[in-house]
Amino acid sequence: MINQYQKTKLYEIQKEYLERNRYLGSAGIIRKLLGDRVQIDIFDANPAAIKSFAGEDVKVLPLKSGYDVLESGRPYDLIFLDPYDDFWDVYEEVVEKVGIKVGDASVCYLCPLQNRLPMGN
Ligand SMILES: C[S@@+](CC[C@H](N)C(=O)[O-])C[C@H]1O[C@@H](n2cnc3c(N)ncnc32)[C@H](O)[C@@H]1O
Repeated sequence: MINQYQKTKLYEIQKEYLERNRYLGSAGIIRKLLGDRVQIDIFDANPAAIKSFAGEDVKVLPLKSGYDVLESGRPYDLIFLDPYDDFWDVYEEVVEKVGIKVGDASVCYLCPLQNRLPMGN
């Protein structure tokens, strides 16, 4: 059975991984889409996550937190921030830094789909 998602480029990229119950991470997806004409710099607070990028031809940035890239003097084409768990704890401060950084880079800051509003109000 073919569904609408199986016709997408993302599905085409993920198919071989999904068949092995795996999921290709964002750096791997970018590499598959853009090939070797782009340099991909990454950072993750979890060393195990960094290890999972081995073989993707990436440079690991020497940061303390991924958000520090927003204070880098380097103009990136795209900064992709996908921290998930601590989003709601830090987003106000981070959004302010994003506002400054978008002067020389496009920034994609993912907001997790999670209802943090108090229940019952
Ligand atoms: C949703 S996953 C990111 C998945 C990644 N985009 C991918 O496709 O492989 C969230 C990751 O953000 C990392 N993380 C959370 N807060 C961080 C921070 N302040 N700096 C760096 N990494 C952080 C977590 O360790 C976790 O591995």
